[in-house]
Amino acid sequence: MQKIYLDQAATSFPKAPGTADAVFRFMTECGCNVGRGSYAGAYSAEEIVYDTRMFLCRLFGCGNDPAGPKRVVFTKNVTESLNILLKGFLRHGDHVLVSSMEHNAVMRPLRQLEKQGVRFDRVPCAADGSMSLKDLEERILPSTKAVVMLHASNVCGTVLPVAQIGAVCRARGIRFILDAAQTAGVLPLDMEGMCIDALAFTGHKGLLGPQGTGGFLIRGEMAEELEPLISGGTGSISHTEEIPAFLPDRFEAGTLNLPGIAGLKASLSWLSEQPEGSILAHELNLTACFLREMEALENENLVRVVGRHGIEGRVGVVSIVPLRQDPAELAFRLDERYGIATRVGLHCAPAAHRALGTFPGGTVRFSFGPFNTESEIDHAAQAVKKLCRMEG
Ligand code: ALA
Repeated sequence: MQKIYLDQAATSFPKAPGTADAVFRFMTECGCNVGRGSYAGAYSAEEIVYDTRMFLCRLFGCGNDPAGPKRVVFTKNVTESLNILLKGFLRHGDHVLVSSMEHNAVMRPLRQLEKQGVRFDRVPCAADGSMSLKDLEERILPSTKAVVMLHASNVCGTVLPVAQIGAVCRARGIRFILDAAQTAGVLPLDMEGMCIDALAFTGHKGLLGPQGTGGFLIRGEMAEELEPLISGGTGSISHTEEIPAFLPDRFEAGTLNLPGIAGLKASLSWLSEQPEGSILAHELNLTACFLREMEALENENLVRVVGRHGIEGRVGVVSIVPLRQDPAELAFRLDERYGIATRVGLHCAPAAHRALGTFPGGTVRFSFGPFNTESEIDHAAQAVKKLCRMEG
């Protein structure tokens, strides 16, 4: 049976060409640590890490900043990045604004911080996942220290107006922390132009790199206000027991995931060679094809399409609720009978499902990547049709 992978929002597969080879080559031909040794192998590992920082700077609009590579901090994923940013920055009495579509990578650290006297409010999103700036501005308090929001929903794909949110934050002296888990590598991101103070990313989704890679980019002023969550050896200023004050060492204690970073460098290199906007265009074309079929099923009262119906203001993530069976049953049969991998349930984003009216039942989510094809999407749509019409 043909296998069709439509769970790209959880992790991309396949990875970019050259990624796995780069991991293998690092482990078999280099294998050294960085910042610790003064021999050729250590220098070549340094070069890989530096090149990866540079690729990320260029991708996120800091390519011309001479301090750009220092502002890139590697972590193991976007969740770790958000924990470092939120727990290192927020203090008792601070107020934070989030959207009502946030993932638990934002909400769970905030729930922990709530116990230490940090308060948060949610800016309500509409039933299609969109958010109005007026609703954001109305909720800003004198104690609002940060706005923390995702760029696009991992449940329904709706994109938030990041540049406008950034402009509001900058004008009011509020830090803007962006969770780019679903958009890095797919949507244009420009930290300066969009007034983003800290951008958290993961390496294994749209960046098409290995799991266990990720990080954040941070502007200088905000870095100065951030306490490290983890401290330890950095290979620098080893005579002192204090964590260094300078970037990126301040937030990169311990040995990095160097094989992963070597793979991430290869995937970023592949991404940099793709024509601008081509991956987004491809994923939105697949989304349009799939949505057309799902809307036809919606007209038969067999499914509900969650979130936006068009391809305007979204990424390649589509959630549906089957109306005559349990979502888990549909997802199970898609896999068992048709070899189609989707993600069912609440997608670690209960707040988003509440906002979309799909809590607690959840949805069946289909998410598309650069290597999915129209014929796979058509096959998946026909399978959903048969299962929803009880024909398959
Ligand atoms: N947050 C990821 C997802 O939506 C893992 O599947």
